[in-house]
Amino acid sequence: MENFVFYNPVKILFGKGQIANIGAEIPSDAKILITYGGGSIKANGVYDQVKSALAGRNVFEFGGIEPNPHLETLMKAVELIRKEGIDFLLAVGGGSVADGTKFIAAAVNFVGDPWDIMAKGAAVTSALPLGVVLTLPATGSEMNTNAVITKWETQEKLYFSSPFVFPKFSVLDPETTFSLPPRQISNGIVDAFTHVMEQYLTYPVNAPLQDRMAESILKTLIEEGPKTLANPTDYDARANLVWSATMALNGLISVGVPQDWTTHMIGHELTALHGLDHAQTLAIVLPSTLKIRCDRKWQKLLQYADRVWDIVGGSEAQRVDAAITKTRDFFESVGVHTHLSDYGVGVETIPAVINNLEKHGMTALGENKDVNPQVVEKILALCA
Ligand code: NZQ
Ligand code: ZN
Repeated sequence: MENFVFYNPVKILFGKGQIANIGAEIPSDAKILITYGGGSIKANGVYDQVKSALAGRNVFEFGGIEPNPHLETLMKAVELIRKEGIDFLLAVGGGSVADGTKFIAAAVNFVGDPWDIMAKGAAVTSALPLGVVLTLPATGSEMNTNAVITKWETQEKLYFSSPFVFPKFSVLDPETTFSLPPRQISNGIVDAFTHVMEQYLTYPVNAPLQDRMAESILKTLIEEGPKTLANPTDYDARANLVWSATMALNGLISVGVPQDWTTHMIGHELTALHGLDHAQTLAIVLPSTLKIRCDRKWQKLLQYADRVWDIVGGSEAQRVDAAITKTRDFFESVGVHTHLSDYGVGVETIPAVINNLEKHGMTALGENKDVNPQVVEKILALCA
């Protein structure tokens, strides 16, 4: 096992009715900005719950944060915060609202062009405190330090990570997710599954606890994902999806082990270029990444085949192939298609994706830092 430091201070308020308790988590004299997306929270009653939990408090609002949140929109919130002297942010929505709010929190006190935080890795040295009321299980943003932001002007989608943007608390009430359309549930299952795979499906470093935790999240998603799709208001199935998605990317399973993230970095470029949902890009790229890198990932693929998919018969090569096929079939079975052509994107996009990865300095991806542009080309060719 590699050395590691683990730190995660996010307080989780999990379960029915927990929104009512947020008042106690926010300083009583805070000037609060509620941030939200395109209006789902107004249609499903979450907005009303938040407002009533904060009745009598000094509350401002900023709506209109789009999926794959835009820098240009978020900077308007930064202006509002500076003008009004707001000192606490409450993100109410999915990963895009949570990520956008993390960026806003970091940008308010940033000296210079805040896009440099993503584009040049400029250091974040402070951020406004923030809380999250999560309405879409998928990204893990509610319990991690990451945010992915899109600059609309240049069609770039880049991430940053800083311990200053850990939420102070996150509310996970599965009932707030009952209003999600099937496409977003499917996306959540695939995103969480792929987060685990990025941290698990590399090479063995004798870390059986991390491996078994990762495998248990994968197996839970395989069992509970179809249940919650079939019965969207089955509380227990949804609760299991919500907690799986949080556990998939809160840092716990990545301690002391190598990580890949090739699929995510290629996926972000596909979203930036073609507007595909984040999880759609992952469903396309992950099976091909596993296939093209199977020599490097051989031992873990065999372990994954055995422990996650119960594949025990046949040669090693047959088991590896079967596990990759099972992965693709699982994504398709929960309703997320796995080929570029399913989304009307052709292989002619490959040079543009590679060009953008090069521009963003992502020419040595993966757990071995050997996924170079030639390898990305092979992966994408297999995604057709
Ligand atoms: O904008 P509203 O009206 O709220 O509608 C949203 C949006 O249209 C809707 N929605 C959310 N909760 C709902 C709901 N509709 C009905 N009922 C509810 N309860 O769902 C749509 C998609 O929302 P979005 O927040 O974009 O989805 P998701 O949570 O999947 O977030 C995706 C973003 O997170 C980034 C992705 O790149 C993408 O930008 N990621 C963030 C990560 C992180 N911070 O660690 C890691 C991930 O790998 C990912 O990259
Ligand atoms: Zn993701």
